[in-house]
Amino acid sequence: LRQIFLTRHGESTDNVLGRIGGDAPLSPRGKKFAKALARFIKQQRLAFALEMVRAASNSQFTVWTSMLKRSTETGAAFDPDEYDVKHIRFLNEINSGCCEGLTYEDIQKAYPEEFHARQANKLYYRYPGMGGESYIDVIHRLQSMIIELERMTQSCLIITHRVIMRILLGYLLDWTQTEMPHMMVPIHTVYEIRPKPYGTELKKWQYIE
Ligand code: F6P
Repeated sequence: LRQIFLTRHGESTDNVLGRIGGDAPLSPRGKKFAKALARFIKQQRLAFALEMVRAASNSQFTVWTSMLKRSTETGAAFDPDEYDVKHIRFLNEINSGCCEGLTYEDIQKAYPEEFHARQANKLYYRYPGMGGESYIDVIHRLQSMIIELERMTQSCLIITHRVIMRILLGYLLDWTQTEMPHMMVPIHTVYEIRPKPYGTELKKWQYIE
């Protein structure tokens, strides 16, 4: 986006005398105009820059959360007049089937074989029981989200869960599928991804109470 201005020169001494053509210098009024023109253009450039900043800050900013309470409640801190907040089931945490609500200790005691099977192959291991998922299952259900994320032009914040974070960050930062399930993604940490012509820039902020 740019500004285009056009003007005639300042009044010349020939203009004052009514002479056409020639190569006369500016009259005193013409010199005043030249200075006023420079001041005017400076003001217009500043006004334009402010307009650009205003337009950029008014452009829609999307907040996506999963449909689970811990995520929608985090998203509730965002004023819907200012943010386009959407709750998306695809962003829900991995479904751990019969292990939902248990601690890792509980799982080790109640389902020792399952516990070891998951440790042996976290990527492919699917939790048994209703709706149980594996990382691979979650990777598949996130495909459409990844496409949408790549297509959208506005800025966004995604409020989601550990497994989803590992997969989305893994995709954006080129982590291998083998390392993805083991990456550290602590809570209360915000990651900012900026696509650059060569690679992706990552910034991390940690909330300290
Ligand atoms: O503990 C939080 C959590 O998001 C669980 O809901 C989820 O099952 C787990 O982390 C996933 O982490 P991991 O794949 O390392 O078990």
